[in-house]
Amino acid sequence: MTSIADIRPMTSEDVPEVLKTGNDVFDTDEFPYSTWSLSAIAKHLDQQPEACHVAHSEGAVVGFILASMPFLTHQHWGHVEWIALRPGFQGRALASKLADASLRALYGAGATRVVADIATANRQSKLLARSLGFTELTTVSLFAAPSLEWIKTPDRAVEVAASEA
Ligand SMILES: CC(C)(COP(=O)(O)OP(=O)(O)OC[C@H]1O[C@@H](n2cnc3c(N)ncnc32)[C@H](O)[C@@H]1OP(=O)(O)O)[C@@H](O)C(=O)NCCC(=O)NCCS
Repeated sequence: MTSIADIRPMTSEDVPEVLKTGNDVFDTDEFPYSTWSLSAIAKHLDQQPEACHVAHSEGAVVGFILASMPFLTHQHWGHVEWIALRPGFQGRALASKLADASLRALYGAGATRVVADIATANRQSKLLARSLGFTELTTVSLFAAPSLEWIKTPDRAVEVAASEA
């Protein structure tokens, strides 16, 4: 069966189209997608170009995956951070193909483990991860501190010290 798009390694010439595709596909008003940027792309492409791939159709980039090592302090952990397909190209196994190419490159480069951090609300992304054989290691919630008004409330440390005096 012919695919509606092909997968190939990403090059620096793809950067503008990858940036635009991410801007169009991610909800950049929402964390973690608000961290999508040129430097987010450059970090992976600089570090591990062989783990970054694009899906292209009729000369245009329609999707991408960006991954690299290390992950935080884990020198030999690969990190799949960004993946996206334009809506007309979703549900056609292209994300699975992109991930396959990236995982092979990461393990080929010496990764001992590959991780992906996925927003709890991102159902499609979790389905993709599970279909690739990823299993859940841990769940981290982002908590927001009280609003700026909070600094007008009494200093808790001072209150405690006063009550202990
Ligand atoms: C996440 C995303 C890349 C998945 O792309 P996709 O083209 O739908 O994925 P595929 O067609 O390769 O499907 C991969 C697997 O996920 C499953 N899947 C993906 N989306 C699904 C959905 N909406 N409903 C049911 N299953 C779904 C598929 O069934 C398939 O599993 P299988 O191989 O066991 O059948 C795509 O939905 C996307 O671009 N989302 C917006 C950007 C985003 O949130 N990216 C992730 C965070 S960086």
